[in-house]
Amino acid sequence: MRFTDTLPTPPAEALAHSAELAARIRAAITGNGGSIRFHDFMQMALYEPGLGYYVAGLRKIGADGDFVTAPEVSPLFSQCLANQCAQILNELGGDEILELGAGSGKMAADMLKHLESIGCLPTRYRILDLSPELRQRQHQTLNQYVPHLLERVEWLDSLPAQPIRGVIVGNEVLDAMPVEVFQMAEGERVIQTVIVQGDEFHWGNTTDAYTSEFNPALPAWMQSMADTLEAGALVLIDYGYEAADYYRPERNTGTLICHYQHRVHDNPLIYPGLQDITASVDFTAAANAGLDAGLNLGGYTTQAAFLANSGLETLFIQALEANPASQYHLAQQVRTLSLPSEMGERFKVMAFTKGFTPALAGFRLADQRHRL
Ligand SMILES: C[S@@+](CC[C@H](N)C(=O)[O-])C[C@H]1O[C@@H](n2cnc3c(N)ncnc32)[C@H](O)[C@@H]1O
Repeated sequence: MRFTDTLPTPPAEALAHSAELAARIRAAITGNGGSIRFHDFMQMALYEPGLGYYVAGLRKIGADGDFVTAPEVSPLFSQCLANQCAQILNELGGDEILELGAGSGKMAADMLKHLESIGCLPTRYRILDLSPELRQRQHQTLNQYVPHLLERVEWLDSLPAQPIRGVIVGNEVLDAMPVEVFQMAEGERVIQTVIVQGDEFHWGNTTDAYTSEFNPALPAWMQSMADTLEAGALVLIDYGYEAADYYRPERNTGTLICHYQHRVHDNPLIYPGLQDITASVDFTAAANAGLDAGLNLGGYTTQAAFLANSGLETLFIQALEANPASQYHLAQQVRTLSLPSEMGERFKVMAFTKGFTPALAGFRLADQRHRL
């Protein structure tokens, strides 16, 4: 991944697609008197029906996309998460997993395969994604890796009406939710807007004041998670910080970044629909939203600690014994998932529980709830 100010020029077809979305955003700006909040720009850029980045069927995740996520790095990630799910399902007597934002379907496939191997297959594995176009890819992946388990997988258009007993999991879902950008002016938060100049989008009211973001949908989203869970746990993995770190004075340009073809840059106002736009997660806000929604905070730690607590070493040795020639690749995968300089500390795991009191194995050592 490279941080860059020189991006490859998108192909003509992609530019035409982006121009169509840009026209729609311009119309929204004109219809709103000349500006819209950045939150609404980001919502349209990522999720505008038929055109947004996550809904328009471009290949985003993986080596030939724009970014790589932990389930794409290694099956060991999903196997560890499956171990945590197995503990909850066994002790709860639950039989369902609901995955939010399932991407390529790789995590679902690897989790189901591992749960089968340890005799803890859920009766149902349901997937809810805001991107209906990803369903086809998820179906293909599951069909490739676990065809005999496909009958257990069900795709949802919205959260289930009947609350579930089991586990809700989401990897890199919170960071894909639209945020408000604000600047501080005389101690007040000033919400940032987007305007049009010529054919280009620009920030409406920006200065060089302290800038950051927040996710306004978090409280309602957490409430919907609490309502969806009859009993069990919600396990979220994402990159982010506790509030004190997120909003420290030196982080004065916020956390918003964009991914295009494995390049990272900080201008969300270009190429709408073609690039990912994402903000780090404020885990203190997530914890508070969960608690306010009536959930218990079951654990919070780094990805590295969660994986270590969830059997990473044993799984690594088993994979090595099964395929000694893969030693270099497996070691590389573990490094990427666990090293502080890679995903190990930037990514955190946060779990909420409801009607379930046993300590969660994934947070046995190095639980960091006190930092929130
Ligand atoms: C960065 S991708 C991560 C995909 C996958 N979990 C992975 O790790 O490879 C974020 C995904 O979350 C989905 N998403 C965003 N907000 C969501 C929500 N409120 N409910 C369900 N899915 C959501 C997006 O459509 C997108 O597919």
